[in-house]
Amino acid sequence: STDDLAALLASRIRDVPDYPKPGVVFKDIAPLLDDAVAFAALVDHLAARAKALGATKVVGLEARGFILAAPAAYAAGAGFVPVRKEGKLPGPCFSQAYDLEYGSAVIEVQCDAFVPGERVLVVDDVLATGGTVEASLDLVRRAGAELAGVAVLMELGFLGGRERLQPHLGEAPLEAI
Ligand code: PRP
Repeated sequence: STDDLAALLASRIRDVPDYPKPGVVFKDIAPLLDDAVAFAALVDHLAARAKALGATKVVGLEARGFILAAPAAYAAGAGFVPVRKEGKLPGPCFSQAYDLEYGSAVIEVQCDAFVPGERVLVVDDVLATGGTVEASLDLVRRAGAELAGVAVLMELGFLGGRERLQPHLGEAPLEAI
């Protein structure tokens, strides 16, 4: 069941206090990725979501989103598209700035990543403030795709990411597994 999956995945996520800086509790997914059963269960779930939503591309957000989105795309029979930090993708790109706790960052997608109107599932490991996913949704739209859904492994609810994303989702569901 979905509850069993959530329990399995939660049991394989490690809290690392004071990383990468004091006061932050880092969610380490390494114990999940290196567990063949848990990793397969997560990828299979994401692939089923992509299929159910009619997504023909799965978008992964650098860096940990890549690890989940690429195998899910393969298993769903969909293509994979990376959203990367500024300066990593060649050729014409759409760029979007977003705020970090201190300062800001820019993420990009290649302009020709999508067929106009195709449906995409956006995947990342953690939804925290929602800034990264929010910026990626702007990129997906500007690149001409239609948002089918967002799936994250974990949601840090106290940071308000879901509320921040709500105005950008339209009909597309946001799933935290
Ligand atoms: C982390 C995480 C998400 C993002 C969530 O990535 O993997 O992508 O932060 O935070 P937000 O909801 O507040 O935007 P990070 O920026 O550490 O990049 P990395 O995966 O390349 O290390």
